[in-house]
Formats: sequence, structure tokens, C-alpha cells
Amino acid sequence: MNTLDGKRILVTGALGQIGSELVHGLRRRYGKDLVVASDIRYAPPEESQEMEPFAYVDCTNETQISEAIRRWDVGTVFHLASLLSAAAEAKPHVAWNLNMGGLYRVLEIARENNLAVFFPSSIGAFGPSTPSVKTPQDTIQRPTTIYGVTKVAGELLCDYYFQRFGVDTRGVRYPGLISHIAPPGGGTTDYAVDIFYEAIRHGRYTCFLSAETRLDMMYMPDALDAAIDLMAADADRLVHRNAFNVTGMSFTPEELTSEIRKHLPRFEIDYQIDPVRQAIADSWPDSLDDSAARAEWDWSPRYDLPMMVEDMLRQLEVKLSAGDGAGVKGNTR
Ligand code: SER
Repeated sequence: MNTLDGKRILVTGALGQIGSELVHGLRRRYGKDLVVASDIRYAPPEESQEMEPFAYVDCTNETQISEAIRRWDVGTVFHLASLLSAAAEAKPHVAWNLNMGGLYRVLEIARENNLAVFFPSSIGAFGPSTPSVKTPQDTIQRPTTIYGVTKVAGELLCDYYFQRFGVDTRGVRYPGLISHIAPPGGGTTDYAVDIFYEAIRHGRYTCFLSAETRLDMMYMPDALDAAIDLMAADADRLVHRNAFNVTGMSFTPEELTSEIRKHLPRFEIDYQIDPVRQAIADSWPDSLDDSAARAEWDWSPRYDLPMMVEDMLRQLEVKLSAGDGAGVKGNTR
């Protein structure tokens, strides 16, 4: 990665679901001063010190991105600023402008300044005509959401900037991400995070996807390793560069419930299907084949379903009993 020659890393969307943890993951690996967080909003006062160095950057504004790159002498951008699937479906024009327009601006600035760029694609880049079980690395991609359209176009644009201009673009296709730190917001896979908060607070959860909706998922520590390890990988080994399938586990709401019940036996779930998010989930794969990532940069996730559930419950019980106003209710462990 370019950063190893002393240049800094810029993380866009640093206050979002991935960003708020990736910033700290990168700082643990490269040092606090080498990693600049940026977002279109400011961190709440109690976290703002922790986010420093911080730059205010609206990724639809080329000047603001360029100024941050120059001011902080940036060599690598982890470009995370984007709307998730359900939020994008509610505001397709905003999603196109931010998800696509933001990436295009970042790539143009990367071309002019010789920057490396990490771009997160998603299981959303697949659609109903994609083989849904063990979805291959190279396969049919005809998504039916605006989010998916921007992700496929983003994958292609990153490939183009590498092939045409030599920009060091790299990226993965993330499945649903689960974390006890930052909430997702506006995604289709969000149920797999919400369920833990409700299980601990109230002992019950109403799920917006059906019991048997199978989706690919990953625990956040693995997602952070994927981004950081791919950017540090030996470029000569990379055949794909962008849009590597990565996966940690694959489960349905019913299977997740059974696993949670091993710790909270009285946990209850019921279902109130949201047709928009159900249709999105139904168009996405059940599980991904991540063999290209394993072969080309030694990808290997650490967390399976039982390990993730155990850790989520342990971490959230501490967090919710310590600081959250709602407190820990209905904990039947
Ligand atoms: N977690 C994302 C979403 O649900 C998928 O990339 O939108």
C-alpha cells in the first residue's frame, strides 16, 4: 500500500457502520496520525477527540475531497461513503449521486495523485438470475436495486481505472455485516444486528424478513481484516483486484434465533415482513464462494455463527448495562 512510504490513509464515511471501526483497525496497524477519518457529519462531542485527525468531506464535492488529500498528504483512500440498500431504494437519485458520483470523483482524484483506493462492493451486486448457492466469483450480475446497480458499476469502474490508468484499486464484496459497535442503518441485513439489541433489552424481536430467508453474513472483525489485508497484499498475486467474494457464515433468521436461544433460552421472535426489504433479500445470494480471495491473498475468516453470537451477546450485555438508557431488560441468560 502507498501508505508504507509515509503517506496518510483517508477513510471516507468514517462515522458509518464500517468506517467507525475501520478507522481504529487501521490506526492499530499503522498508527493514529497516519489515518485521517472523514465524513459529511461531525462525530458527537464525546467521540470527536477519538476521531482526530478528522476532515469534513462531502464525497459529492470534488474540491473537498481534493483539499483533504492535499492537506493530509494522502496516499490511500478507503472509500466507504455510501447509502445502504433500503435507504438507497427510498432515495434512488441521492444514492446514484453519492454511491456512483462519490466513487467517480475519488477515482479521478486517485488518477491525478497516484492514490490507492479500496472500494467495498456487496452481495447487493448480485440479482435474481445469479446462482444463489455458493455464488461464484465471476458470474451473472443483474441486480434489481439501485444499490446493486451502483455496486456493479463501481466494481467495473474500479477495474477500468486500474486497467486504463494504473490506479491501484482493490475491493471486496461484503455480505451483511454484524457488529456490536456501530449500528448499520438503512440496510436489508440490519435485522441480524437489531435482533441482538432487542434480545438483550426485551427478550423478543419482530423480524422484517421471513424466518427462512438465507443470506451471507460476516462478523465485523473479519470485515476489517479483509479490507486491511487486501490493501496490504502482494499486487503480483492479485488476478481479480476488485470485488472479491468474501464470506464468514450463512444463516436464516430462524437459525440465528436458535443460536441466540442457546444463550438466552426464553428469547422469542415473530415476523412482520417488510415487502421492500424482503424483495431485496430474495434477490441476493444465499452464500458466496470465496475461493478466489483465499487463493490470491490468503483470506480466511475467524468467526462462524456460534462464535459470532457468543461474542455479540457478551459485548452487548456489557455495553447496554453500562451506558444505554434502556438498560438490560429481559435477560434470561
Ligand atoms: N448490508 C448491506 C445492506 O443490507 C448489503 O451490502 O444494504
